[in-house]
Amino acid sequence: MRIFHRIPELRAHLARFDRPAFVPTMGNLHAGHLALVQQARPLGDTTVASIFVNRLQFLPHEDFDSYPRTFETDCAQLEAAGCEVLFAPSEPELYPQPQRYKVQPPAELADMLEGQFRPGFFTGVCTVVMKLFQIVFGQSKGGGHAVFGQKDYQQWLVLRQMVQQFALPVTVHGAPTERAPDGLALSSRNAYLSAAERAEAVQLNRALRSLAQALADEKWDGAGGAGDLAAQEQQAVAQLNARGWQTDYLTVRRCSDLQPPAATELAGCRTGQDSQAGQLLALGAARLGRTRLIDNWVF
Ligand code: PAF
Repeated sequence: MRIFHRIPELRAHLARFDRPAFVPTMGNLHAGHLALVQQARPLGDTTVASIFVNRLQFLPHEDFDSYPRTFETDCAQLEAAGCEVLFAPSEPELYPQPQRYKVQPPAELADMLEGQFRPGFFTGVCTVVMKLFQIVFGQSKGGGHAVFGQKDYQQWLVLRQMVQQFALPVTVHGAPTERAPDGLALSSRNAYLSAAERAEAVQLNRALRSLAQALADEKWDGAGGAGDLAAQEQQAVAQLNARGWQTDYLTVRRCSDLQPPAATELAGCRTGQDSQAGQLLALGAARLGRTRLIDNWVF
């Protein structure tokens, strides 16, 4: 695997390829990231990953400074997964001056859910991904492919729409969430969990699955859908909080635009219409001790 820390050297190397397949990361890699690399490999004529902990997407009180930086292990894992090129810029390399030009995603998609609890998060993500795309794909003749994990479902949707709106020659792919055997979504932030918290952490996924199941159950009345849904969501939040979590949100949305589903869509999910399968998802974010976890469940 070739490792580049500087933009000009990376560009010179990538100029030989037509269609890179790219996996942007913030490092501290786990099996979920490696699955992204596996998915990327057949898509392009070279496989590129990046490691960059992007200050722009952290709020001042968040974990930018303590975010785990495990460069040596990350390199070994990427190499073993068949990644051919790693771009690992320093902060001055990617942001030589304060980044004043930013990509601001639309409020109706980016100011809710994660964006409500982490204001500015998606501006930071879109700005760094736009910049990384310019660097990685800027010299490719046939555009390229980028793969993102769907654990961060809203991020994936925001980035897919960014690529469409700016007509970037990049196809954005989503990869299913990798899970531990008990169902916990793999995440770099799982490393923050104590043993007791790790045992408890799967409850976020269970809460999402129970919420999805409750909607599919018989007591559901499509006519009163929105009110019923809010009550189910509140109950799910109360149950998780009673276990010691601090929940930011547990909610059911449409997969296509993350808006609340219409009563007819909820009714369709209850009656198990095939056309409704996979149209809705339950999403959640909650804090366990000092660790904030997110997950989602499509149904
Ligand atoms: O999902 C992540 O790891 C980050 O948000 C990303 C896409 C690499 C941008 O910094």
